[in-house]
Formats: sequence, structure tokens, C-alpha cells
Amino acid sequence: MYRIAVIPGDGTGPEVVNEGLKVLKAVSNKVGFRYKTKAYDFGGERYLKTGEILPDSAVTELKKFQAIYLGAIGHPDVKPGVLEKGILLKLRFDLDLYINLRPVKLYNSLFCPLKDKKPEDIDFIVVRENTEGLYKGQGEFQNKGLKNEVAIQISHNTKKGVERCIKYAFEYAKKRNKARKLTLCGKTNVLTFAWDLWERTFYEVAKSYPDIITDYAHVDATCMWMVKNPEWFDVIVTDNMFGDIITDLGAMVQGGMGIAAGGNINPGKVSMFEPIGGSAPKYTGKNMINPLAAICALSMLLEHLGEDKAAGLVEEAVIKVVKTKLKTLAAGKMGYTTEEVGDLVVKNL
Ligand code: IPM
Ligand code: MN
Repeated sequence: MYRIAVIPGDGTGPEVVNEGLKVLKAVSNKVGFRYKTKAYDFGGERYLKTGEILPDSAVTELKKFQAIYLGAIGHPDVKPGVLEKGILLKLRFDLDLYINLRPVKLYNSLFCPLKDKKPEDIDFIVVRENTEGLYKGQGEFQNKGLKNEVAIQISHNTKKGVERCIKYAFEYAKKRNKARKLTLCGKTNVLTFAWDLWERTFYEVAKSYPDIITDYAHVDATCMWMVKNPEWFDVIVTDNMFGDIITDLGAMVQGGMGIAAGGNINPGKVSMFEPIGGSAPKYTGKNMINPLAAICALSMLLEHLGEDKAAGLVEEAVIKVVKTKLKTLAAGKMGYTTEEVGDLVVKNL
């Protein structure tokens, strides 16, 4: 009996999570596993009503689950940063979800903004470090408000944090067994402290993986290749900030936020899965948003639980829907409502 915590969150989060849960129910019947969900109402509404963001007691409770299924965080009436820091980042840090795994996979060339790129050209995965770097939030103001003000923002990288992330990426490249290639995406030519540590650690760990091809690209060049030659990538490993940036670019080349999913992972421990787009307040309650990103996140959640067969079935059903049904992946233009897209996935399981 799997225990899954559900945090639908803000905006369109609840709508897409509903579709994901519909698919979960269907695939569990098909494959034959049992699960229990418990919903938590953390998000903008609760904060505005009660002032509570995410109490430490909730974090303790969430540790008892095997997975967390998250919709979206972000509310138009709450100052940007409050909920993101108080919920999403707090969960990443407090649950030590040190990997942010983000597949970049094109399912239908029609939805790719790059000319002549096919599904076989765009199929890589980004392993983003998820608990360190600039996201540690260290720094200070000096002479705040004055003409000679200085703002310092520190990228904090530990050997332990870098090493466990790089090891995960090598293991992933091995298990994935596609091109068996791992690219370190960094900025060794300018950020000479952080990327010195990353580069040294990368080649140290590489010694234990002689059958994995290693490669290095600066982050700016990575952006260029992701557009020009995305077929060069298999697995990319990078730090928190660069990973944040390149995976938005990744989401676009795979067809848009409507399909982009990610997992916040602590291997073997409770991990959190989410569509990577935001709460899309503009579309809230309109039954227009694309639930496929949330459904792809569910597939990743199932893989985390060890339900590989169910994960594969869900992904195959999504591919069928994307290939044969939808007009676009964009909200409101799919030719179907949010609920209908969820139903189509269920039907294609
Ligand atoms: C993401 C988001 C978050 C991040 C924000 C909402 C804090 O952009 O999951 O990529 O920067 O990590
Ligand atoms: Mn982001």
C-alpha cells in the first residue's frame, strides 16, 4: 500500500492534479497495486486565510509518505517569493530532495519550435542539483539604500552536495543506457571557485564509470546546443541555478510547459513530483490548462515507487494522446478541455 501526499496548491494546480489522480486510479486497477492518498491544502488560499505557509509539523508528517504529488505554488495576491520560498523551496531543503530530475522529451515534432527536429533528436534529461548553489540564499546588503550600495549573493557548493548529485547523474546515465553520455554543464571559465569544485568532482567520480562518456559544456554554450543540436545530449548534470534556467529552455523545445514535468528526489526517501510550469492564474477554474505535465509527473512518481510498468503505461498513453489527438499543447488551444485530456489518457492506457 503506497502512501502518497497530495498538495494541489494554487491556481490551476488542483485541476491538473485531479487529472493525474484519475490516471493513477485507472493505472492502479490495470497493473494491480494499492495506494492511499492524503490531501494537504498548503498554498496561497490557506496563507491568505490563516497566515500559515508550511509549518514544520507538516514537514515531519510528509516524511511518512513515499511520495508527494504537487500541483503548483504561486498566488496573484501573495507577494512573489513568499510561497515559493515557504513551500516549494522549504520542502526541497527540509526533505533534502537533492536531485531535480527534468526530462526533455519531444513526443510530437509538430509541437517543437525548432525546425526539422524529431522525437529521436530531443530526448535527454537534466539532473539539476536541488539544495545548494545560489538557492541557499546566502548573501548580504551593504549600505542598503545608499548610492554605494552593494548586494552580495553567494553560490554555496559543498563537496558532499556536488558529489552526491554527480554520482546520481552517472548512475542515471548508466541505468538509462541510451548514449551512455554525461555532460557537465557549468561555467569553469568565469565562476572559478564553484566550477572548479564541480569539475574536479566530476572527473573524480567519472573514474568509477569508465563506460560512461564524459563531456563538458559551458552553460551559455549548452543553451546554444540545446537549440541547434539537442540530439547531442543524453544526460546533463548541472547546479541549481543553471538547471533552473536550462530546463525552461528544455520545456520549450519539448513542446512547452504543458508537457514538462520534474521530480524532486531523495533516492529511497519521500520525493516530490510536479509539473514544472506555474499556477497559471489566468486559466484557473476554466478547464483549459493542459494536464499532461502533471500526468507525466505522475509517471515519474510511479517510477520512484518502483512501479515501472505503470510508469511506462502512463507515458505511452500520454505519447498516444500527444501524437494523435491534441492540436497543440498550449492551454485553451488543445481542442479538448483539461478533463477531456485526462479522460483521453485513461482511455489510452
Ligand atoms: C522551478 C521554479 C522554482 C525554482 C521557483 C518557483 C522557486 O522556477 O521549479 O524551476 O526556481 O526552482
Ligand atoms: Mn524554474
